Amino acid sequence: MTDQIRVLVVDDIPETRDHLTKLLSFESDIEVVGSAASGREALDVATKLLPDVVLMDINMPDMDGIAATERLSATLPSVAVVMMSVQGEADYLRRSMLAGAREFLVKPFSSDELTSSIRQVHAREREKASRMAAAMPAPSGAAPAAATGGHAVEGEGTVVAVFSPKGGVGRTTVAVNLAVAAATDLGKRVVIVDGSFQFGDVGVLLNLNPKSKSIADLAPELEAGEVESLDSFVINHSAGVRVLLAPPSPEMAELVTPSGIKKVLEGLRVNHDLVVVDCTAYFNDTTLAILDSADIILTMLSLEITSIKNMRLFLEVAEQLGYESGKVRLILNRADSTLGIRVTDVENSIGRKVDETIVSDGRSVVYALNRGVPFFLSNKEAQVSQDILRLARTVVGDRVSTASADDKAAKAQPKKSLFSFR
Ligand SMILES: Nc1ncnc2c1ncn2[C@@H]1O[C@H](COP(=O)(O)OP(=O)(O)OP(=O)(O)O)[C@@H](O)[C@H]1O
Ligand SMILES: [Mg+2]
Repeated sequence: MTDQIRVLVVDDIPETRDHLTKLLSFESDIEVVGSAASGREALDVATKLLPDVVLMDINMPDMDGIAATERLSATLPSVAVVMMSVQGEADYLRRSMLAGAREFLVKPFSSDELTSSIRQVHAREREKASRMAAAMPAPSGAAPAAATGGHAVEGEGTVVAVFSPKGGVGRTTVAVNLAVAAATDLGKRVVIVDGSFQFGDVGVLLNLNPKSKSIADLAPELEAGEVESLDSFVINHSAGVRVLLAPPSPEMAELVTPSGIKKVLEGLRVNHDLVVVDCTAYFNDTTLAILDSADIILTMLSLEITSIKNMRLFLEVAEQLGYESGKVRLILNRADSTLGIRVTDVENSIGRKVDETIVSDGRSVVYALNRGVPFFLSNKEAQVSQDILRLARTVVGDRVSTASADDKAAKAQPKKSLFSFR
C-alpha cells in the first residue's frame, strides 16, 4: 500500500495542466495519476483511476467544473475535489461548496498553497473515513456516535452547536439559556463555548468581565497541537455553568484554527455532560469544524423570509456534508410572532418540519440581557423559559433515540466530508 496522494488534474488549458503536473512532481508524497481537459473527461478518467484528490478548474467547455464536481460527489463520494478559479469569481465559491468541493483555490496560487490544500483535504478525508469505519460496526443498536454524528463516545458528553445561517435570530440567547437550564434544572455538567470568535456575546449575556480568560489564552497550546491546561481557561459562573469565552478582540479570532477548536471540544466533552457552542452565522472553516464535531446542530431560524431562504441553502449544504437529519434540528425562535408568515409556510418552504419552537418574549429576554442575568434564572415561569427547558430536555435526553435506522445507514455511507474554502 502506498501513502502517495493520487491526484487528477483537470483544466482545459494544456499549459496549466503541464504546469500543475510539474509543480506537483517535486512532492514526494503526491503523484499526478492523470489529467483531463473537460468536466466530462474528468468524470471518465476519475471513474477509471479513482484518484484521492481532483484538482478541478471551474471554467471549461463541455461540462464545467461545478457540474462535474456535483456528478463526482454523487458517484465517487470519497474523491475530494479542490476547486480552482480566478479572482473575482467569488460567487463560484458558494456554488462549488454546494456542489461538494472540499477546498477552493484562487488563481494564481503558490505551490505551497496548492500542496498544502491537497494534503489537507486528503488528511481530512482519511480522518473522516476512519471515523466512519469506527462508527460502522455498531452491532446492536445503542451507539450514540453512529446515531447522531459528531464524535461522541459512551460516557462522554454531547456537543451541541447552536447555529443559524443568518445573524440576529437568537443563537446566543438560546445557547446561554439552554446551558443554564440544563445545568440548574437537569443537573448536568455544562460548559458553554463562545464560538463566535470575532464578536462573541456570551460574556455580555453572563455579565462576565471582558478581561477574563478566553480561548485566545490557549493559543500556544492550540498551535502546539496539545491542549493540556484547557480547564484553567474555563470560567465557573454563578449561574451553574462553565464558560470558555471568545478572544477579547476580533483580530485574535484567527488564533483559533479548525483543528484547534476540534481539540478543545473533544477535551471539554470528556469532563462535561453537555458542551454548548454558540456559533457565528457564516461559514468559515472553524465554524465548519464545530459543526462537524457536534452531535447535534440546533439550527435557528425566525419567521423572516431571509432567514428561511438561508435555512434552505444551509440544509442543502448539511446534506452535502453528510449530516444526517437527526443531527440537524430546526428551532424556530419567536415562533408566535405575527409577521405574515406562519410556521406551516416555513415548513412548506424548506420541506421539513420544525423540531422545536420558542415563543417571543421581548420583555423577559431583553430585560435579562440588559441586566446580564439569563432569563431562565430571573423569569423561570415565563413561557420562553419553559420552551428552553423543553429544548434542553430533548438535547440531553435523547442522544440515542433521535436517529432512525435510516439515519444510521446514511451515516455509514457519508456523502461528504468537511470542506474549507478561501
Ligand atoms: N425568544 C425571543 N423573544 C424576544 N426577543 C428575543 C428572543 N430571542 C432573541 N431575542 C432578541 O433578539 C436579539 C438577537 O438575539 P441574539 O443576540 O441572541 O441573536 P444572535 O443570533 O446570537 O445574534 P448575532 O448574529 O448578533 O450573534 C436580541 O436583542 C435578543 O434579546
Ligand atoms: Mg450571537
